[in-house]
Amino acid sequence: MCNVLVTKKLPGNWIDYLKRECNVTLWEDIYPPPKEWILNNIEDKDGILITLTEKIDKEIIDRAKNLKVISTYSVGYDHIDIKYAKSRGIIVTYTPEVLTDATADLVFGLILAVARRICEGDSLIRKGEWKTPWYPTFMLGTEVHGKTLGIIGMGRIGKALVKRAKGFDMRIIYNSRRKHEEVDAEYVDLDYLLENSDYVVITVDLNESTYHLINEDRLKKMKRSAFLINASRGQVVDEKALIKALQEGWIKGAGLDVFEIEPLPKDSPLLKLNNVVLTPHLGSATVETREKMAEIAVKNLLLVLKGEKPIYEVQ
Ligand code: DGY
Repeated sequence: MCNVLVTKKLPGNWIDYLKRECNVTLWEDIYPPPKEWILNNIEDKDGILITLTEKIDKEIIDRAKNLKVISTYSVGYDHIDIKYAKSRGIIVTYTPEVLTDATADLVFGLILAVARRICEGDSLIRKGEWKTPWYPTFMLGTEVHGKTLGIIGMGRIGKALVKRAKGFDMRIIYNSRRKHEEVDAEYVDLDYLLENSDYVVITVDLNESTYHLINEDRLKKMKRSAFLINASRGQVVDEKALIKALQEGWIKGAGLDVFEIEPLPKDSPLLKLNNVVLTPHLGSATVETREKMAEIAVKNLLLVLKGEKPIYEVQ
């Protein structure tokens, strides 16, 4: 029987499924395990199933003498030293596709919420501050339909956003490493995208080339009436620069599901701004999607341990 380490409980019955095939050492808490726990338990393990809060670095990989597979319960894999894992012959697997639509739905939720001031309105009512009957200039927001959506990155989530934006009659422009002929949207350079979009949505992975991709200079290129939406990784945006942009009105607002530090520190200036909508990394957070991610993460792990091709391997 194989030995595996699992760093979080998963929704559905997928841990039980895994237990039928392997000896499972499970971290039971919702807080991530300390690195020491992983180091102390990984030595004899054939596989490890992690989430995005566990950093798998050279030290852990070196300790894992038998490790054949790192299965991450996420589409992002910036928390794993992929190069080093590969150099040691370890296969890294992940869970793309199953979370694409849920994440694209949330991005549209953020666009609508920040543009139409949905959270501000909700909070106004709850605080008992809705005192005036209807009048024509009360809480006016910005339209979404017919506006220009600029998508940075054209992977699965970018493509799912194109479909949704069509329904809102939006003009869609995008920038990515290459032109995607199959996508019904205009390929433009990044500066043009920033200068012309009403909604700039980030869908790129976090890696060396995308760290702080949206910095002070790029925020200054955006229209003063534009909104920035990020549901990929917080570190793609220089958060200090974004806070300045929101405070000083270089852009109109932001919808953020991810942050440079998560959970967002209690003293973050973002909490004081009413031109932002904040969600706590909920992109894939639906019952259906999180169960599918569990299925894929467990099956990826087992397939590699059986010597077969996993469903999704990080290339
Ligand atoms: C991921 O999978 O990388 C998301 O950030 C969480 O589902």
